[in-house]
Amino acid sequence: MKIVITRKIPPSIVSLMEDGHEVYMWDDEETVMPRQLLLQHAADADAIFTNVSDRIDKELLGRAPRLKVVSTMAVGYNNIDIAEAKKRGIRVGHTPEVLSEAVADLTFALLLGTARRVVEADRYTRAGKWKGWGPMLLTGQDVYGAAIGIIGMGRIGRGVARRAKGFGMHILYHNRTRKPEAEQELGAQWRSLEQLLSESDYVVMLAPSTPETHSMIGPRQFAQMKPNAILINTSRGGNVDEQALYDALTTGKIWGAGLDVFETEPIGKEHPLLQLPNVIALPHIGSATIETRLQMADIAARNLLAALRNERMLYSVIG
Ligand code: DGY
Repeated sequence: MKIVITRKIPPSIVSLMEDGHEVYMWDDEETVMPRQLLLQHAADADAIFTNVSDRIDKELLGRAPRLKVVSTMAVGYNNIDIAEAKKRGIRVGHTPEVLSEAVADLTFALLLGTARRVVEADRYTRAGKWKGWGPMLLTGQDVYGAAIGIIGMGRIGRGVARRAKGFGMHILYHNRTRKPEAEQELGAQWRSLEQLLSESDYVVMLAPSTPETHSMIGPRQFAQMKPNAILINTSRGGNVDEQALYDALTTGKIWGAGLDVFETEPIGKEHPLLQLPNVIALPHIGSATIETRLQMADIAARNLLAALRNERMLYSVIG
């Protein structure tokens, strides 16, 4: 059977899949496999090992008559047309759980980094601008004792809430369903989205990307936020209206933003948000620790092989 791997992954993971199969791998760690080449290889593929940056859409699925499984090295699968895969009997696997703590760590790193202007201060020092201690030099926002509003209280949200508890933060959350465990264990309090936005000093977006969460934070929501508020997004770029975010940051409606994800990725250095000093922008590295990424790749490979053998996947979205 033919397996297409759309990004260079460690040899130990590739060799798991090579056993008895023909493997094609796009041999570059940083660039996306060109669309035309992906379509060409999909035409006779039995399995695709993918990641967040490939578009596994109706067109591609329609041109892959032998395809049995799409296995993504990610928890999120908004880049895959799930309805179409289901219609065609193609199984879809993903890698939840294993990355929750790493993403929670990075979310908190962005929160602290934005609050205390860490990146800006580093640039200032490197630029030789540091002439002496200043009473109000590079002053930021308090984290201890502040209110954090977590939108999306899944595994990553709970991880962020546990960290916030350690920082003595007041924990608010918004989720479609109430989470009694988080309320009991962490003292988290449920709020409507409007209440959360108006009460939080830190608004942390962790909701999955769905048609309902698309541009969930837009002009109206920014208008409800506090002027000292900081928005952190480590979910999907599409959950936040980027133009509205830019306007909110440049008109003082909010104080700063820490972003790991963007509406269209990758972004270039001309991106408007990169021109603002009160933004920290990262290249979608939420789960990027060596251990976590190796575990994600390993699970994605095992999901794929299980599906090819008609066995149960460790973590499936469909099938
Ligand atoms: C995911 O798993 O969905 C992340 O965004 C990729 O690190």
